[in-house]
Amino acid sequence: MRDLVFATNNAHKLDEVRSIVGHRMNILGLRDIGCDEDIPETADTLEGNAELKARYVKEHYGYDCFADDTGLEVDALGGAPGVYSARYAGPGHDSKANMELLLKNMNGRADRRARFRTVIALVEGDDLRLLDGVVEGFITDGPKGSSGFGYDPVFRPEGLDVTFAEMDSDAKNAISHRGRAMKKLLEYLIK
Ligand code: IMP
Repeated sequence: MRDLVFATNNAHKLDEVRSIVGHRMNILGLRDIGCDEDIPETADTLEGNAELKARYVKEHYGYDCFADDTGLEVDALGGAPGVYSARYAGPGHDSKANMELLLKNMNGRADRRARFRTVIALVEGDDLRLLDGVVEGFITDGPKGSSGFGYDPVFRPEGLDVTFAEMDSDAKNAISHRGRAMKKLLEYLIK
């Protein structure tokens, strides 16, 4: 069976991918290959960061690998926080502070349009393939709901009247940026 690394230590993301791929492939996480380093994410685009992570694993550990990177792009803020979504309010990766800063910067703005975008980079040998997934929506006036993580309480997907944090994980995954990008990847991998 073919080994393929998913450059993450997020057990939830790994379980999700493993359950879809089944016995067709052996999906390894970073811990499974003995990697406990902080892989550099120094690019200024989602594509660049996803590629950096996937190539790092290929170069240092020898495995074919895929990596994802996600950002929330808000039109009224010129696409911010974008690639800096995790660190919007500072290096602490504090979701609550990030959300508060976003709501403050959106205060009084009529254009609330935003989207989550996930880019996946797949490195197989020397080949690079980039896939993406997008969900369009709006930034709410205040947080609502308690499921999910990150900016979920302030993001309302287009066509729905609830935030991501008011949806259960299956409903969110069915339409989410990451769900859509992952679906494209898995369709390619299991072909
Ligand atoms: P990552 O590339 O998956 O680590 O995502 C980067 C940052 O984007 C996270 O730290 C979150 O702040 C935000 N983010 C990513 N995916 C989601 C999501 O599904 N809901 C809410 N926020 C997210």
